[in-house]
This record gives sequence, structure tokens and C-alpha cells, in this order.
Amino acid sequence: MKFFIDTANLAQIKEAQDLGVLDGVTTNPSLMAKEGITGKDNVLRHYKAICDIVEGDVSAEVIATDYEGMIREGEELAELDDKIVVKIPMIKDGIKALKYFSERGIKTNCTLVFSAGQALLAAKAGATYVSPFIGRLDDISFDGIELIEQIRLIYDNYEFETQILAASVRHPMHIIKCAEAAADVMTGPLSAMLALLKHPLTDSGLAQFLADHAKVNS
Ligand code: E4P
Repeated sequence: MKFFIDTANLAQIKEAQDLGVLDGVTTNPSLMAKEGITGKDNVLRHYKAICDIVEGDVSAEVIATDYEGMIREGEELAELDDKIVVKIPMIKDGIKALKYFSERGIKTNCTLVFSAGQALLAAKAGATYVSPFIGRLDDISFDGIELIEQIRLIYDNYEFETQILAASVRHPMHIIKCAEAAADVMTGPLSAMLALLKHPLTDSGLAQFLADHAKVNS
């Protein structure tokens, strides 16, 4: 399973990249706003700065919600760097835009997906990635991981090439459950990735090893 970091924060992206396990980045308009990135030129510059840090795909979301606007913005984003994946919302014009970009070999990520039917449509339109938001489903008492399992079954039934990008990941158990459900990618915060490292027996075991070594080497 690929690990994407879900942030527009350059320091966190660099930290994850330096860890050596990062496969890409996802952003959204809320994450860009959180970093205080405003104005078209600054936004484009920021996406380029992200592309310069990471080796994998970088999702950049369109703001337009009409077909022509999404095409215009998406083409501009795609021209920035080969790593750019045009992120398109799951709406009617978005499906048409996914089809347009897929026919032209431009990578896409269909975002704000909350049902298997939406994921099926995105795959039929040729999306490179589909982003089911598992954390937001859990927030309203639906099972986000169950949705990943359902989409996996459907995509495997018909050999769709669209990759399942489990989004809205909040904690390490989400990551583990996504891997069990055979998501192709998970995107989450750096904190969730770093939490995978932790185990109390690792900490106490290491402390013991170092103490035993110090006893005979001091
Ligand atoms: C995915 O592409 C989205 O940016 C993201 O995962 C949303 O996560 P949230 O529900 O934590 O805002």
C-alpha cells in the first residue's frame, strides 16, 4: 500500500519524505487555506514547491465546479509538473472532466467519494485514483473501512485500473485496516504514520538492550 501525506505543509512533507516511506501528497482547498496560501500565483508556486520535495504524485484540487472551469484549471495545474494529479470533485460535471483528462493521459483523483456507486462512476470515467473519505464516514456512524472493502470487490470484479486512495485517514488503526482491505493507497497526516512506529515493548526492549550494553562497556 502506498503512503501519501495529506497536507500542504512543506515542513511535514519534507519530514515524511526524509523518512523514506512517502509515495505522494494529497492537498485540498482547506489544507491550502490552513497554510495561508492565497491567490492563484501563490497557489501554483506552492504546488510546484511540493512537487520539488516529493518523488511521487501530488494531488492539486480544482476550485471550479463547472465542466469548462475544471478543464481550464486542471490543464493549468497539470502543466506545472508531471507529478501533478488533477483532483476533481464527485459531481456531474466532475465525471465529464474525469473522462476528458483520462482521454488525454492526465492523471486524476476523484475526491469527496462516500459511496460504492460514486466509486463505480469514477472508475468508469477513467479516474486514476478514487478517494473514499473513511474518517468522515466514521464521524457520522457509517463504516469507512466497509466502503473500501466494497469498492475493492467491485473494482476487482471488473478489473478497473482506478486505484483506491483511502482518504480522511485519522489514526494508525485506519492505516492498518486500509492495508487489510487492500486499498492501493492511504492518505493521512504525518502523526498517523509516525504512530505506526510506536510500541511500548519496543521502547522497553531497547532501553534494556542499551542498559545491558552499558553495564559491560563502561
Ligand atoms: C483527501 O484527499 C482529503 O484531502 C482528506 O483526506 C480529507 O481529510 P479530512 O476528513 O481529515 O479533512
